[in-house]
Amino acid sequence: MCGIVGYIGQETALDYLLNSLRVLEYRGYDSSGIAVYSPKAGIQILKAKGKLSNLIDLTEKQKIAGQVGIGHTRWATQGAPSDINAHPHSNAQSEIVIVHNGIINNYLALKEELINQYKIKFTSETDSEIFAHLIGVFTEQGLGLKEALQATIQKIKGTYALAVLSKKEPNKILLTCHEAPLVIGLGKNQDLFCASDSSALMQYTDQIIRLKDAQIAELGENGKWVIYDEKGIVINPEIQTLTLDPLLMDKGGYKHFLLKEIHEQPAILRKLLGVHLSDDLQIQFPKLDPKVLKGINRILILGCGTAYYAGMIGKIVLESLAQIPTELEFASELLARPSVLADEKTLVIAISQSGETADTLLAVKTALKKGARLLAITNRPESSLANLASGACILTQAGIEVSVAATKSFTAQILCLYFLAISLSETNKGLPEKQIEWIKQEMRYLPQIMEQTLSRAENYKKKILPYATKKAFIFLGRGLNYPIALEGALKLKEITYIQSAGYAAGEMKHGPIATIDEGVPTFSIITPGPLYHKTLHNAIEAKTRGAPSLGIVVDEDKEASQELDALFYIPTLPFSAEYEHLQDLFTPFISVIPLQLSAYYLAEYLGKDVDQPRNLAKSVTVE
Ligand code: F6R
Repeated sequence: MCGIVGYIGQETALDYLLNSLRVLEYRGYDSSGIAVYSPKAGIQILKAKGKLSNLIDLTEKQKIAGQVGIGHTRWATQGAPSDINAHPHSNAQSEIVIVHNGIINNYLALKEELINQYKIKFTSETDSEIFAHLIGVFTEQGLGLKEALQATIQKIKGTYALAVLSKKEPNKILLTCHEAPLVIGLGKNQDLFCASDSSALMQYTDQIIRLKDAQIAELGENGKWVIYDEKGIVINPEIQTLTLDPLLMDKGGYKHFLLKEIHEQPAILRKLLGVHLSDDLQIQFPKLDPKVLKGINRILILGCGTAYYAGMIGKIVLESLAQIPTELEFASELLARPSVLADEKTLVIAISQSGETADTLLAVKTALKKGARLLAITNRPESSLANLASGACILTQAGIEVSVAATKSFTAQILCLYFLAISLSETNKGLPEKQIEWIKQEMRYLPQIMEQTLSRAENYKKKILPYATKKAFIFLGRGLNYPIALEGALKLKEITYIQSAGYAAGEMKHGPIATIDEGVPTFSIITPGPLYHKTLHNAIEAKTRGAPSLGIVVDEDKEASQELDALFYIPTLPFSAEYEHLQDLFTPFISVIPLQLSAYYLAEYLGKDVDQPRNLAKSVTVE
């Protein structure tokens, strides 16, 4: 979603701003802009709709000198994507210039006040422009920039990360935030940076300060910075060390980040197994206070999109292994179900790759207010979610996920949930010890089976491309493969824009089957386990009504392979005749791979913007 960057130091600000905006491209955006101050030219603003390359073209036509500047990538919420609505925005006198992430809820009332009382003319359709005018009104009344910003945020209701430049106090950047991330980077040569996503800073520094709600930061010349709390008192903030690996921002020889990230999955699972499963098969959570899990009798899982689907799998394994009643809710729907939150014996598990998803953060805050215990499963240790969980975190260790569509973070989230389910099963006396032993032994082979599956990528490509022109797809699965069907449908629609839906296979004949014909293939996951035959019959029912039938089956499959039109074979999964009921336990890690790859190859074939699909953002920081 929107991204903020800023630079003040000895060098040309423009280079830093454009480099940082390039890093933030992965988050998804529809326009971009920069503002740079120089004593000669004052504040110069350039902005352009569309890709960052359009902005770069503008900077090549116009000389932009200056050592202090701010930049923005915008994902439209209020006002269509356009040059005019792109940030930065300024007040009428072009003295105050701002970039903003977030939403002003009382925007209409403030706009009316500014128009009626101060005769201000708005130039854009955005709510963000309010910030520039309000700060301008207060500085006109004689307040200094910091005081004007303080007065402004008193009036704003909503969420914001904000960076401000001013012609009157030119050699500084002011920052503030409320329920939106903003990070300051401390460079080596008295350079100071800021960004709404720490990945934009990692090329310059690993020393960062996370700005907290209502704090104001002033970044000045010669590397001087100061942070004030909400009362205006100078504070001594914690300086953290950033642990992101810049190499992950490289495609490493793959055509797209998405393909690279799909192929990274075995290595990530191997790393997670190394951290959480010791050689003598003990589950360990090195950074988790055991008190968080002690004595819980109920679990509530929260997430959005792919993270929610990981949660669906989590619910099934937590209930079947740990035997703890587990509820699952879309973070955005929790507010409509306040009574869903129980007492302090309820463990809330919030799953979020970015740790910055606004819906998830809001749901978590609501849960915390009611006394729930929080455990975060996230990929970003420095994120707002990790901070809210104050260390009660399981990190997915997936490295930066650049492609907007989530892949590697999904399988990593699932594995973390399995570790949790096993550990809680042990303390809660869920499954018999022997069965848990078997699970722990077998899960060590997952990275290897994933590698074998990925080595079949070219074969999956050949199988899926004949269906590239179909108007819609239906994905079917039961049990642990139902969330995988939903995830397969989500991946396909996100990156190919082809209509697709996932259903619990048994639900097919209760409605969705009416939509199928020869233009709507069904893609069924028919892997061994207690639900095999039922799923197969659902696939056949669709086929007999004209739908081309695709299926994921295991190598030694005998029945489904005779019935379907296109077969996506996956390697045989761990199986013990003694524990037949656990036969499908590991399937999701493997069955998702042909679906991820099919979505990728179709999108690539159709010439879509694979890593940055239209209208989507990597980190959805508005509700
Ligand atoms: C799907 C996708 C989204 C995210 C969702 C939650 O490919 O990327 O559905 O899963 O926006 O994001 P996080 O996990 O960052 O909270």
